[in-house]
Amino acid sequence: AASYPFFGEHQSGITTPAQDRLHFAAFDVDDISRDELAELLADWSYAASRMTSGLGAGGYGPASGPYDSPPDDTGEALDLPPSGLTITFGLGPSLFDDRFGLAGKRPAALIDLPHFPGDALIDALVGGDLCIQACSDDPQIAVHAIRNLSRIAFGRASIRWSQLGFGRTSSTTRAQTTPRNLFGFKDGTANMRAEDTDQVNSAIWAHSSEGPGWMAGGSYLVARKIRMTIETWDRSSLREQERVIGRTKGEGAPLSGGSEFTEPDFALAGRGDAPLIDPASHVKLAHPTNNDGASMLRRGYNFVDGNDDLGRLNAGLFFISFQRDPQTQYVPVQLSLAKNDAMNEYVRHVGSGIFAVPPGAREGSFVGAGLFG
Ligand code: HEM
Repeated sequence: AASYPFFGEHQSGITTPAQDRLHFAAFDVDDISRDELAELLADWSYAASRMTSGLGAGGYGPASGPYDSPPDDTGEALDLPPSGLTITFGLGPSLFDDRFGLAGKRPAALIDLPHFPGDALIDALVGGDLCIQACSDDPQIAVHAIRNLSRIAFGRASIRWSQLGFGRTSSTTRAQTTPRNLFGFKDGTANMRAEDTDQVNSAIWAHSSEGPGWMAGGSYLVARKIRMTIETWDRSSLREQERVIGRTKGEGAPLSGGSEFTEPDFALAGRGDAPLIDPASHVKLAHPTNNDGASMLRRGYNFVDGNDDLGRLNAGLFFISFQRDPQTQYVPVQLSLAKNDAMNEYVRHVGSGIFAVPPGAREGSFVGAGLFG
């Protein structure tokens, strides 16, 4: 089973081959001091470096240590391999205030997201001072990571909202096959890949020339919890489904022709001079040519959170993207989708968060250390 290093130039969990499972959590920081905040981040990095290499969260482990104290690991990952676990830490806009004397440190790229047309955000699913993205191919491993990091944070930070994801909706390397979202379509076809190093360097990693030096090599994460009314979708025709996406359901080829990885031709017309790819389709509106070249790395997950009173599944896509500058790479794309996407009839944005994801830490240091320099 794969294992990825915790320490390094960049945090893992961004260009790392997208794992199958997600546990994401946003935290509110309690009434603690600036030093205690730094200590929390250091404790988190230490535990994360252990868990990502398959060790327990603490030095004793779940079944040893002082008999009259709670164990320093909860135990459910004992005997399991890390299964590609990555733990990625982020800092929310609300962390940069007077409580911690950080008001002057907020990176300009860490904007407050605007209210997008059609947003139906639920307060309890928005924001957070800190976030942790835990990804693994084993759901028990991802949950164990969030559980232990929350336990370690007790009295210092607590979970504000969280999300489990059970299937990746992107590929982030060429070796991976394209997975499918809950509309049944391939998702991730046109995504950026780790192998596209020029694009990765210019579109994902923050540069010191345009922001605080401590963010160089970091990135910015946007999370959107998007409900999909799949019952309505499932009663729509195959023709309508393909029109909405702009691609075929089977192969994932653009409706202008070719196979999965053929570039879409938005000008190509069919009978009656109508473009083969509907101008209101998701692919047309999200494509870089429609957004001044804006591109992002998508790394989202399918979710089903039980069902509602009417017997409908609480299903959807937990969208995650990484980009160097959300203002120019995320906002314009989301705006054009929010205004015109034919998919809007079947989706509703209910949760939202934006976080600065610091660069990776050197061994012996911790993620976010640069903030306290
Ligand atoms: C492409 C589904 C939300 C940005 C696609 C594709 C599908 C899809 C099936 C085509 C295959 C591919 O290239 O990956 C969905 C679903 C969503 C959703 C089901 C919500 C439930 C979003 C959001 C954004 C976004 C919120 C960004 C604001 C993109 C981009 C592409 C894309 C940039 C690639 C377009 C291209 O270059 O051809 N999406 N998407 N999507 N989507 Fe989404």
